[in-house]
Amino acid sequence: MPPRQPPDSAARHLPADPAERTIPTLRRLAAGCTACPLHLTGTQTVFGEGPERAPVMFVGEQPGDMEDEKGRPFVGPAGQLLDRALADAGVDRSKVYVTNTVKHFKWVRKGRRRVHEKPGRLEILACVPWLEAEIAAVAPAGIVCLGATAAQALINKEFKVTEGRGEFLRTPLAGWIMATVHPSSLLRIEDQAMREAAFLRFVGDLARVAEHVAGEGRPAVGEAG
Ligand code: URA
Repeated sequence: MPPRQPPDSAARHLPADPAERTIPTLRRLAAGCTACPLHLTGTQTVFGEGPERAPVMFVGEQPGDMEDEKGRPFVGPAGQLLDRALADAGVDRSKVYVTNTVKHFKWVRKGRRRVHEKPGRLEILACVPWLEAEIAAVAPAGIVCLGATAAQALINKEFKVTEGRGEFLRTPLAGWIMATVHPSSLLRIEDQAMREAAFLRFVGDLARVAEHVAGEGRPAVGEAG
């Protein structure tokens, strides 16, 4: 049997000198990333956005249909729900960094719609050097994983949000890391009362993030005054 090819990796797109791995440079290089086949079907790379010295980084799974079109993370329905939850928790989105584990939209066509498909292990492995480089460049006090894909990429590959949700854990990547649900999981809850209860619990998780940041004397994530 021929030896198995090692999976390709975005690491080959990174500047050799870590000092050159700034967010603007990473964003420019990621725009040309061909490390996995998703660049063939995605419209564009959707890189993270937010202050380059944000105290907290929020990490989702991958861009959705609208993010793929606009080239910005969390601007579709899940992003709007995240914005509402952040606002209710007293977190100003413009003061945090928001990104994804995988930077291209993976989808299948169903009729006229492009429907989200979960990224596979090789796509995550290929793409994660961008996320690691973003974390190193921003050096946030803490990282919030939105959903299992981010938590399994950054905490451990067996991580279950149902078990480890809301725990502030140690990590070599930042001061702390915690995982909560992905906002799109809330959109899928059909029963209105259950959806509202789940939203309030999500807001509670984000409020604890804001408290954690404030307790560390880091730049606040909420509005002044
Ligand atoms: N879901 C994600 O995980 N990220 C986005 O940017 C949008 C939806």
